[in-house]
Amino acid sequence: MHLSEAEQEGEGTPVEVRGWVHRKRVSGGIIFIVVRDSTGLIQVAVKKDKVDAKSWEDADKTTIESSVELEGPIKKDKRAPTGFEIEVQKFHVIHVSEPFPITEYQSAELLLDKRHLWLRSQKMIHVLKARSIVFKYLREFFEERKFWEVTPPLITKAGGEGGSDMFDFDFFGDKAYLTQTSQLYLEALVPSLETVYSLVPSFRAEKSRTIKHLAEYWHLESEEAFYSNEENMKLQEDMVSYVCQRFAKEQETLLEKLEVDKKRLSVVKAPFKRMTYAEAIDYLNKHGEKKEWLDDLGTEDERVLTKDEDKPIFVYKWPAKIKAFYMRMDPDDPEFVLNSDMEAPHGHGEIIGGSERIWEQKELNERMKVFKINPKNYYWYLDLQRYGSVPHSGFGLGTERLIKWMLNLDHIRDAIPFPRMINRVEP
Ligand code: 4AD
Ligand code: MG
Repeated sequence: MHLSEAEQEGEGTPVEVRGWVHRKRVSGGIIFIVVRDSTGLIQVAVKKDKVDAKSWEDADKTTIESSVELEGPIKKDKRAPTGFEIEVQKFHVIHVSEPFPITEYQSAELLLDKRHLWLRSQKMIHVLKARSIVFKYLREFFEERKFWEVTPPLITKAGGEGGSDMFDFDFFGDKAYLTQTSQLYLEALVPSLETVYSLVPSFRAEKSRTIKHLAEYWHLESEEAFYSNEENMKLQEDMVSYVCQRFAKEQETLLEKLEVDKKRLSVVKAPFKRMTYAEAIDYLNKHGEKKEWLDDLGTEDERVLTKDEDKPIFVYKWPAKIKAFYMRMDPDDPEFVLNSDMEAPHGHGEIIGGSERIWEQKELNERMKVFKINPKNYYWYLDLQRYGSVPHSGFGLGTERLIKWMLNLDHIRDAIPFPRMINRVEP
């Protein structure tokens, strides 16, 4: 049984458990071992005069990270690190680990080289669980709203966010790319399913070495028939609130282990504050930044904008010149697009980008010319505005950015088990 189940058993009940050796200490005729499984840790005590010779020999030769199985009665014990102790009657070592290469004080670089082993640390186990739960909540949010989950291709000839940061490769003698965004494929599925989402990787050949850029990240994207940008923003804030609220309510123990104050998440309730791009530039110039019209928002700007916020904020109505080709221009004010970015609080940066999409062919052709995009690779996307086009909106959320902010992680690499970054493609 799992350790969490063993702890539910009554005082003195015999239990059988298995796991990995987290710590080991020998004191007189007793070997104390802290065993780990996926549900937690427990102390077990092997006493020389209480076990057979084979059990003692096995306990004696266990090393850190050896895999073991054991049985004996479970008891509450205040002195034990987790409040319980198993008094071992039988002990068996499944595999004796070689000396474990990770010890207490290790450089960040070594922990990244040994990532495949570091994932067994308590910190990473808790984050992996949180990540799984966030993915589950995101999916359940869309299920409740009757969206269809779809699976776009990851190999493509059509980029969505401009060509400079795409990984290209030889696809049977033709040049193809790893997808930057699934958006255009989700748009193609709108006439079939109307409201769709996907949760698959996107790839960015980002040259920047920052605490919030990955070369491969899990991108949650949604596309919604007949939604205005306003409705799209509402959907985004509802989604982020839903995930934070449920996490705060249902994951108290995990939050404690992660040393995250529950309030950090329970305060995140829609509606979120909104400011236009123009207001953001103005605010930044009044708060010590030097911003020009058409400047993008950098890390420091994002920090200044959100440092006193507890909830994410929207920056909307961006100049068309500095946003993507597919964003619909505001018919009343075509210098701007109908879009928004969601910025996480406390300077964690942009977590969502979204917009209303161009749905009329004339406007799309003009925009593709302005952006010097070769229509050949987009022949299928251009068909969408020819056959039963409808107004629609959508957005993309970087799940690792969301997790980094929710759990207050120092670096985005800890929000994903095997990070890919400019200087790292192993393990
Ligand atoms: O703002 P981006 O580039 O927008 C799009 O790709 C749209 N096509 C999405 C859509 O409308 N369907 O990326 C969306 C989000 C960002 O807000 C950010 O959270 C995340 O993806 N993101 C990254 N996360 C980690 N590492 C990177 N290098 C990222 N680049 C973007
Ligand atoms: Mg963006």
